[in-house]
Amino acid sequence: MSEKLSRLYEQCKKVSEKILEACEKDLFFRIISHLDADGIAAASITSSFLLKRKARFHLRIVQQLREENLREIKDSKDSVFIFTDLGSGQIGIIEKNLPPDSVIIIDHHPPEKETTIIQANPHLAGIDGATEISGSGVAYLIAKSIDESNMKYAPLAVVGALGDRQDKGEQHRLFGVNTEIVKDGINQGVLEETTGVRLFGRETRPIAMALEYTTDPFIPGLSGNHGACLKFLTEKVKIPLKDNGNWRTISDLTQEEKTKLVSELIQYMLGPAEMTPEEAQSIVGVIYILPKEEKQTPLRDAREYSALLNACGRMRKPGLGVAICLGDRSKALEEVESITSDYREKLAGYMGWLTKPGNVIQEEHLQYFHGGNLIDDRIIGTIASIAISSGIIPQDKPVFAFAESSDGMVKVSARATDYQVQQGIDLGSALRAAVKELSPEGTAGGHNIAAGAHIAAGTETKLLQLLNKIIEKQLSGKNGPNKGKH
Ligand code: C5P
Ligand code: C5P
Ligand code: ZN
Repeated sequence: MSEKLSRLYEQCKKVSEKILEACEKDLFFRIISHLDADGIAAASITSSFLLKRKARFHLRIVQQLREENLREIKDSKDSVFIFTDLGSGQIGIIEKNLPPDSVIIIDHHPPEKETTIIQANPHLAGIDGATEISGSGVAYLIAKSIDESNMKYAPLAVVGALGDRQDKGEQHRLFGVNTEIVKDGINQGVLEETTGVRLFGRETRPIAMALEYTTDPFIPGLSGNHGACLKFLTEKVKIPLKDNGNWRTISDLTQEEKTKLVSELIQYMLGPAEMTPEEAQSIVGVIYILPKEEKQTPLRDAREYSALLNACGRMRKPGLGVAICLGDRSKALEEVESITSDYREKLAGYMGWLTKPGNVIQEEHLQYFHGGNLIDDRIIGTIASIAISSGIIPQDKPVFAFAESSDGMVKVSARATDYQVQQGIDLGSALRAAVKELSPEGTAGGHNIAAGAHIAAGTETKLLQLLNKIIEKQLSGKNGPNKGKH
């Protein structure tokens, strides 16, 4: 085992000892987690091992950790506060509001500052939390160190990592510490890894729908357009879409049919859709399967599972996502199906808005769009991710997306590409620095490649000016005369 990994295991062991000690004392746990797929998976893994220990706990899922969340709970006596998939970036407000020795942080965001609070965080072990392990991955390592039987939760950590887009290895494979988790899952017989067509809903959707629903990669002209997908499949690919009157899924296709589908898709992506060869190739890649889940349910394909959790969080039903992770099926699955479809409709509408001319504005070192009150502030981050990763907006500059928040503030979501990060861009530190200069009421944080903030309405232009300068500096620091000096 590498030295870094053993340092991370050491942290996890300390956290698990603290949790077990609190269980012994029958303390009450308050778990606070992030609302995306990774946060829901992390909270579920943590809840599962607490349930097994018959510990008493309460779970709260939030879009971001704010001081008011902490004020609400600060008077809960005899409590242990566990933050999952958030917390490291908000150490200041946690220390201000809660007794540090009753706090545990299980996170993968860059820590805001040094603290005496007990934390399991890959960054503290020299491991990159943006790409090598997710929040649910860290929660999984803790669960495993408490009891090896918790290795059955490995698939949830894979679902979380995929939700955070950590599948950046060759052919969209997870890498780093995530590889260890995948191995555990495979050894336990709860996970399989294969290579195939990365269309959404491989096991569950009629082929035209799988194509229509695919947004990673986003295929201009096909993604979100059912009619165009049907036409493409019948006129170009020419494979039967039905068998005995039933719609066929991708997993029903013969090898020959799959090959034909992939080759026509790649031709289309390189041709009329004007995508790059890498983007076109990305239609084939590594697929993670949960073999214990029923066939033809959205829980068999880990990417679809993660999209489903994400939809629950963003459509204000995070509890439903947790229920599914904890094993609730039948009714919960039916409900989630309708939520996922409402979510997709919303996404398609927003993408339509985004592609209208004039909505994305170019500055020297960044680009931005303002969704005002048209785009839900819980979904603005997803739109920014799809926009930049698909290339429907230029990929040469990071994107900053704004949306009005229900509390009168403005939500900011920032996304970069891997290449920009290699060039020196770090959106988490850029936003933190800009917001600090902008106003005391703002909050900001996140990874180099994906970050976010909450700012006072009306300060967007000023923020963009500050960011433009900071990003210029970040780029020159990496490539210019100061190279290697920081
Ligand atoms: O808070 P957390 O770390 O879980 O969230 C990371 C966010 O960043 C996710 O919403 C994920 O989709 C996004 N992300 C991204 N592109 C990357 C890495 C992460 O959009 N390359
Ligand atoms: O909300 P969004 O998906 O844009 O967030 C991107 C990343 O930035 C996530 O990892 C999120 O946890 C982080 N973030 C943060 N502080 C904020 C807003 C977002 O650390 N105020
Ligand atoms: Zn995360």
